Amino acid sequence: MKKLVVFASGSGSNAENIHYYFQDKNIEIVAIFTNNAEAYVLERAKKLNIPAFVFSKEEFKDGRLLQKVSSFQPDLIVLAGFLWLIPKDFVTQFPHKIINIHPALLPNFGGKGMYGDNVHKAVVQSKATETGITIHYVNEHYDKGAIIFQEKCPVLPSDSYEDVAAKIHELEYKYFPKVIQKVLKKP
Ligand code: GRF
Repeated sequence: MKKLVVFASGSGSNAENIHYYFQDKNIEIVAIFTNNAEAYVLERAKKLNIPAFVFSKEEFKDGRLLQKVSSFQPDLIVLAGFLWLIPKDFVTQFPHKIINIHPALLPNFGGKGMYGDNVHKAVVQSKATETGITIHYVNEHYDKGAIIFQEKCPVLPSDSYEDVAAKIHELEYKYFPKVIQKVLKKP
């Protein structure tokens, strides 16, 4: 059984989608971690019977959380809407074992503060004719790790940022689990 640990700060729709995708495969989410006690991902975890843990900034920074995550012996750590910068000790302990999904075509519309609707609003404002998703390895800099996968979608002049968000979520649900599966197969 391949084990995934997921980090999320918000709704967790990607986490739920990943859970269902791997239900009949030898891969499972063994734990969900969040920095946000109000995150809806906790409701989803309860519904799906996935152990979920809320952690503080101190635990995240001082190594206690790293110890807890390591105890699950994850084959891959998946950031799915997680907003904090991953500390260096995580990256060192899990080299090429932490991936993130970003709702734009990095390096465009990436970096600190570029998350959720902020990204879609910036894309619409820029009058870009396309956007998409990026799945990348995580290092200690926001959105700077090696890119694993990108997929595009058109942005129409009539698109609102909500329209863009809907197109992005569609791409995420379609491709994120498949890319996770491919990464797990890498030696
Ligand atoms: C997704 O759009 C993802 O690209 C970004 O954060 C959002 C998470 O959505 N990193 P959800 O919490 O999985 O619904």
